[in-house]
Amino acid sequence: MTPHAFQVESRSRKGRIGIILKILYLSSEVAPFSKTGGLGDVAGSVPKALWQKGMDILVVTPAYRSAISAQGMQDKGQISMDGGFSFILAGRKLQVNVMHSAPKDGPKVIFLDIDGLFDRDGLYGNGKEEFSDNPYRFGLFSRASVELCLYLNSMPDVIHANEWQTAASVYYSANLEFSEPRFKDVATLLTIHNLAYQGVIPSRLAPSLELNAPMGPSHLATGIFWADVLSTVSPSYRKEILNPGRGMGMHTLLKARRKDLFGILNGADYEKWNPEKDPYIPANYSIKDLSGKRTCKKELLREFRLPQDIYRPLFVIPARLTGQKGWHLMCSACKKLVKMGASVAMMGEGEPQYEAMLRYTAHTCRPYVSFLRGYSEDLAHLMQAGGDCLVMPSEFEPCGLTQLYAMKYGTIPVVHDVGGLRDTIVDPLQDRSGATGFKFGEYNRASFLSSIARCLRYYNNKPAWRRLMINAMAKDYSWSRAARNYISLYWHLKSKK
Ligand code: ADP
Ligand code: GLC
Repeated sequence: MTPHAFQVESRSRKGRIGIILKILYLSSEVAPFSKTGGLGDVAGSVPKALWQKGMDILVVTPAYRSAISAQGMQDKGQISMDGGFSFILAGRKLQVNVMHSAPKDGPKVIFLDIDGLFDRDGLYGNGKEEFSDNPYRFGLFSRASVELCLYLNSMPDVIHANEWQTAASVYYSANLEFSEPRFKDVATLLTIHNLAYQGVIPSRLAPSLELNAPMGPSHLATGIFWADVLSTVSPSYRKEILNPGRGMGMHTLLKARRKDLFGILNGADYEKWNPEKDPYIPANYSIKDLSGKRTCKKELLREFRLPQDIYRPLFVIPARLTGQKGWHLMCSACKKLVKMGASVAMMGEGEPQYEAMLRYTAHTCRPYVSFLRGYSEDLAHLMQAGGDCLVMPSEFEPCGLTQLYAMKYGTIPVVHDVGGLRDTIVDPLQDRSGATGFKFGEYNRASFLSSIARCLRYYNNKPAWRRLMINAMAKDYSWSRAARNYISLYWHLKSKK
C-alpha cells in the first residue's frame, strides 16, 4: 500500500469509533497551489472542512508547472515525488507521474501529470488563448484520477468531481466497474460550479477519450448523465438552471435529473479572508475597532492612483474579465457613478476585449476610475479591505465568493439579484434592520444605478452605514455548514449503493 492510500482505521479524529467515509475529491484548481477564480478557493477549503469533520479525504489535482514549482513554496508546503503508474486508453499507453503535499492542518493533495500535458505555463491557456487540447488533457486527468485508486489499491466510498474538467471521472468510474468489480461500490457526485463552461469535445478528440456521452460530446453533459448525484453551488442557481434561460443548453438534461440535483451554498474561509488577521493588508481591523479600514482605503487609493479623497465612497470590483461578470453594465454606469460622487477601482484578467473596454472607461472617467489588468492575490485582499462598496453586476452568478469576503471586511455589496447573490445578500427593502447590501432586479443600467443611488444615500447617513457594515461583518458563511451538507449527501449516496 502506498503512503497515500485511504486510512482503514475506523476511529474518527475526535477519537470516537465509527465509520469514516473515504472521499476522492477531484478539482482542476486547488488554492494555494492553483487558482483562476472561485473554484480554486472552494477546492482549497471544502476538503479541509470535511477533513476537520473526520472524513478521510484525498484531493487530486493536476501537476501544473506553477502549482509544483518552488515559487511560493512556503505557503504550499513541501511537494514530494512518488513515482507513477501507467494505463491504457484507446489503445494508447499513458504515463502518470504522481506527487503529493501533506499539510499538517488539512488533507493530502495528490498531483498528477499525464504524459507531460500539465507541465506548461498556464492552467488552461497561455494568457492569449485557451489550449486547444484542454478537453483531451482533462479527459485524461479524469481517467487517471480513477486509475489512481487502483494504483493506491484503495477504493473511496465517493468520488466527488467538480466542474467539467473532472466530470468524466464519474463515467470512467461507472465504466471500470466491468473490469474492476470494486468500482461497483464507489458512488459519484458531480458539483457544477458554472454551466457556462462545458468542456465541449471536438470530434477529432472524442475517440481518444473513449467517452460514452449520450447527451452530446461534452465533459459536463457526460458527468450530468452519469453521476449518481449532482449538486450546484447555491439553491437559487439550482432553480435557475432548470430553465432554458440559464440552463445553457443543459436544462432538459438537468430537468431529467432534478430529483438528484442539490443546491449547496458555498462558504468562505475566514482563516484566509478575515480583516482581523489578514497578512496582505496594511492595518487589521474588526467590528469593535474599524479604524484600520481607513488605512487600507488610503493604501488602496494609492495602489490604483486614485485621488486621496478618503471621504469619497470607493467602489471596488475584482473579477475575471468575462461576460458573466457584467463589465458592460459597469462601464456603461461609470461616468454616472463619478457624477454621483464615487471613485471606482477595478481589477481583472481574462478576455482581451474587456481589457480594452476597461482601459477606455478608466481613461474617459479619470481621475476617479482606475483599472489594473492582472491577477494579484495581495490586491484582491486589499480591495476587499480598502473599498467601501463591492460591485457585482454579474449577469448570472452560480454562487460568488467575492461578496461573502466583502461582507466580512465591512465592504457593502451592490449586486444583481440572481443566483448565489440573491441567497447571500439582504437588501434594506427585504429587511431594514438586518440588511447587508443592495440588490437590483432588472438587468439594465437604470436599475443598477438606482441601487447605487440607494447605497449612496445610506453611505451619507453615518449611523445607517455603520449598521450595514456591522450586519455584514457579523454574518457567518463559514464552510462548516456546507461541509455538513456534503457529508449528508455522501451518506445518502452510500446508502443507495
Ligand atoms: P468566479 O469563480 O466566477 O471567478 P467568485 O466570486 O466565486 O467568482 O470567486 C472569485 C475569486 O477569484 C475570489 O477569490 C477573487 O478574489 C478572485 N479573483 C478574481 N479576479 C482576481 C484577480 N484579478 N486577482 C486576484 N484574485 C482574483
Ligand atoms: C464559479 C462561479 C462562481 C462560484 C465559483 C465557486 O466560478 O462563477 O459563482 O462562486 O464557481 O463555486
